[in-house]
Amino acid sequence: MKNDFESILLAAGSGKRFGLEIPKQFCEINKNYTVIEKSLEAIAPFCRKIVLMLPEDFEPNKLVLSRLEEKAKVHNSKLCFLKGGSTRQSSVNKGFAEINSEYVFIHDGARPLVHKNDLQELLQNTLKYKAALLASPINDTIKQTKDNFIQKTIPRQHLWAAQTPQAFDRLIFQRALEMAQKQNFQATDDACLVENLGFPVKIVEAYHLNFKITFQQDLDLLKALLKL
Ligand code: C5P
Repeated sequence: MKNDFESILLAAGSGKRFGLEIPKQFCEINKNYTVIEKSLEAIAPFCRKIVLMLPEDFEPNKLVLSRLEEKAKVHNSKLCFLKGGSTRQSSVNKGFAEINSEYVFIHDGARPLVHKNDLQELLQNTLKYKAALLASPINDTIKQTKDNFIQKTIPRQHLWAAQTPQAFDRLIFQRALEMAQKQNFQATDDACLVENLGFPVKIVEAYHLNFKITFQQDLDLLKALLKL
C-alpha cells in the first residue's frame, strides 16, 4: 500500500494564533525534537514520498531539516522541501504539483499524534472509496451564535470534526483543485474541495487523540501526554 501513496505535509503556516516568533510546527517537544519531526515520523511509514511545505517567511533551523531528512530515510520515504503559499489551500496546490502516485494524502504538520492504526484504516478506505478523511464525532452541544448570543442549537447527531490526514485518488483531487480555482472557492480543508466537486467523501473515525497544535496550551498538553 505504501507505494500507492505520496503525501503533502503542511508546515507553511505562520501560526499567528500561537503568539510566538517560531511557527507552532517548529516548536520543540523535547530537546532536539520538534512537532514537525513527530508528524513526519507518524506518516513516513505509509507513503513513498513526502512533500513538506515550509513557510515563505521563516527559515527553519538547518538541524531540524537534516533530522527530518534522516527520519524520512529511515522509513524509506523520499523527502522534498517546498515553500508554501499564503493560505492552506495555496500550500496544498503548490505541493500537489509534485505528486505522481495514484493516491495522495494531505496531513497538517501541526497534528503530530495521528495514530498508525487510524492512518492504516484511512488509507484502506481510500483505496475503496477514493476519498476519505479522519474525523471524530462531536460530543459537545454546538451553538450557532450572533454577537455572542445563541441563535440556535445544532443537533449534533450527524456532526463530525474533520481532522487530517485526508486522502484522495490523485485524479479526483486534481479535478477538485481545478474546479476550486475556476470558482475562486476557498476551503479550510481538502475534503471540502472534493465535496464541491460532488464526489462522496468517506468519514473514517479516529479512535486515538489527533488534535491540532493551535495554542500554547495544546503544546503543553502534547508534552504532558508524551511524558506519560
Ligand atoms: O492554520 P491551520 O491551523 O488551519 O493550519 C493547518 C496546517 O496547515 C498547519 O500545519 C499549517 O502549517 C498549514 N498551513 C500551510 N500553509 C498556510 C497555512 C497553513 O501549510 N498558508
